[in-house]
Amino acid sequence: MEFARAMSRLGTETAFEVLARARALEAQGREIVHLEIGEPDFDTPSNVIEAGGTALYQGYTHYSPSAGLPELRETIAEYTMETRGVEVKPEQVVVTPGAKPIMFFAILALVEEGDEVLYPNPGFPIYESMINFVGAKPVALVLEEERDFRFDVSQLAHKVSPRTKMIVINSPQNPTGGVLTKEDLEAIAQVAEEHDLVVLSDEIYERILYEGEHISFLSLPGMQKRTILLNGFSKTYAMTGWRLGYGVMPEEIAVHITRLMTNSNSCTATFTQWAGVEALRGPQDASYKMVEEFKRRRDVIVPGLNAIKGLRCAEPKGAFYVFPNIEGTQMNEKEFADYLMEEAGVAVLAGTSFGEYGRGFIRISYANSVENIKKALASIEVAVNKL
Ligand SMILES: Cc1ncc(COP(=O)(O)O)c(C=O)c1O
Repeated sequence: MEFARAMSRLGTETAFEVLARARALEAQGREIVHLEIGEPDFDTPSNVIEAGGTALYQGYTHYSPSAGLPELRETIAEYTMETRGVEVKPEQVVVTPGAKPIMFFAILALVEEGDEVLYPNPGFPIYESMINFVGAKPVALVLEEERDFRFDVSQLAHKVSPRTKMIVINSPQNPTGGVLTKEDLEAIAQVAEEHDLVVLSDEIYERILYEGEHISFLSLPGMQKRTILLNGFSKTYAMTGWRLGYGVMPEEIAVHITRLMTNSNSCTATFTQWAGVEALRGPQDASYKMVEEFKRRRDVIVPGLNAIKGLRCAEPKGAFYVFPNIEGTQMNEKEFADYLMEEAGVAVLAGTSFGEYGRGFIRISYANSVENIKKALASIEVAVNKL
């Protein structure tokens, strides 16, 4: 069969493939510690589950408007105003099944063949995949280990060309746990203003932050008119399987993103949206407790990895990933990830799953218990000492 040419340019998320390989080994009786997948291992808070269940019994089992239930759009607008200190109207909010479609739709709606998009590398692989899919050119903002996995903002202006349309930023970041500073964000805002660029700001890990307050790009003066804020419920409320996310953007963009929703999904599951209203309006303690536990795990995994010969691990300020440098093992990142799976029974991802600048690194998700993390560290050490 002949497929559309664009399909050959579409990337993927390796985490799902590695998970499948780990499961296949488990089916053969092997014990594997899962440090590959990027989802909280906690349960969705019970008040949120109850709200979703109640909505099902109340008959919220039909279509909603494509952009989302008015009550949820209103709640998200209020939440965004409270946390960002800017005016947001419900008409600026589009609710989607998970936050991922916001990347897909934003790029489809705004980026033409031949345009250029600046994006973090290593970074969430779907940005580069989508930029390539629409025939645009991905221009990497290289995240540097020695800069705590931030990019050199002084290079930003040099990367902009007359074809640049959009900058994608992600803070706190997947896969490095890096966090952009206020100065970084201000420099990005200046370049965006000077060159009239749209900024897709992926803030899905906003709450999973271990130092200081989250600074939203949307809060920066003058940026509301050019920012698409990507946010959602998957990480903050451990709701990956509910598929609930959203974008906040200028109304003129929201109209197009809503039309893409109508053409693809029709709408997001209605009872799920009611669970989202409860997640934002209800008690937040389960979510904050989860973040505390992630910090405890980070404080185990970072020194644990640094104690292993050949590994060097920076301490991330946010998200639930570490991105250790493995060059000292003399293996490349893919060989090392495969070796850890086979030899240590630990599933991790090669840094290059997040772009070419992930060379020499692996990504470890510490969304697993302290007990399993300690077990994994011990097995990794034994495996590395055999090299
Ligand atoms: C940086 C980043 N953005 C967006 C998403 C997508 O989230 P969702 O599951 O809500 O689609 C993820 C999920 O791993 C992510 O890491």
